[in-house]
Amino acid sequence: MSNSEVAKCPTEPLPEYAFIGRSNVGKSSLINMLMDRKHLAKTSGRPGKTQLINHFRVNDNWFLVDLPGYGFARVSKKEKHTFQKYITNYFEQRTQLVCSFILVDVRHEPQKIDLEFMQWMGEKEIPFCIIFTKADKLKPNVILKNVANYLNTLTSGIWEEAPQHFVTSSSKFLGRDELLKFIEQINDQFFKISKK
Ligand code: GTP
Ligand code: MG
Repeated sequence: MSNSEVAKCPTEPLPEYAFIGRSNVGKSSLINMLMDRKHLAKTSGRPGKTQLINHFRVNDNWFLVDLPGYGFARVSKKEKHTFQKYITNYFEQRTQLVCSFILVDVRHEPQKIDLEFMQWMGEKEIPFCIIFTKADKLKPNVILKNVANYLNTLTSGIWEEAPQHFVTSSSKFLGRDELLKFIEQINDQFFKISKK
């Protein structure tokens, strides 16, 4: 299901996981990799491909949510709100959301817009993990260095502790098992609690 309004998103009380980050960081590609389906979520070399809130129901008991990127179709710099309103509405209002994944390109230094988004999520007390993408583009030692640098930036800033993180490559299927296992564990807890 695709929507631009949170109110019209699926109503089933199933746990859901959202993928968010800058345009072109690889959100839709990661969803396809996790599902092992090449064309489930639409991808493109040009930023701004995903424009709506897209729900994919998995095994009839959880949802993956592909969101538009921020930092591309954003409102004028003078405006206070850097993130599209319906994205922030989604995060503020969606009660089914159990965990969000903020994607960052493992090749890049921490970017202001991502750090601001993480801070915003923290202020709203919305749980998230960081997913480093495109790991196939770097050598393992550089990946380690960049990831350590990223987490250091967070803990030397506003964060007492760095969030959980995953290193992935959609083209090489790297990080797939770890991520699916992580989601499965949360789903198990979710269904245990909701049975009580
Ligand atoms: P928007 O929908 O525009 O916000 O972008 P997105 O974050 O969904 O990115 P998308 O998945 O469409 O991928 C953007 C580009 O990056 C495409 O050309 C992908 O092929 C490429 N890409 C995504 N993941 C990887 C990866 O793990 N490795 C490599 N080498 N390229 C990737
Ligand atoms: Mg996309």
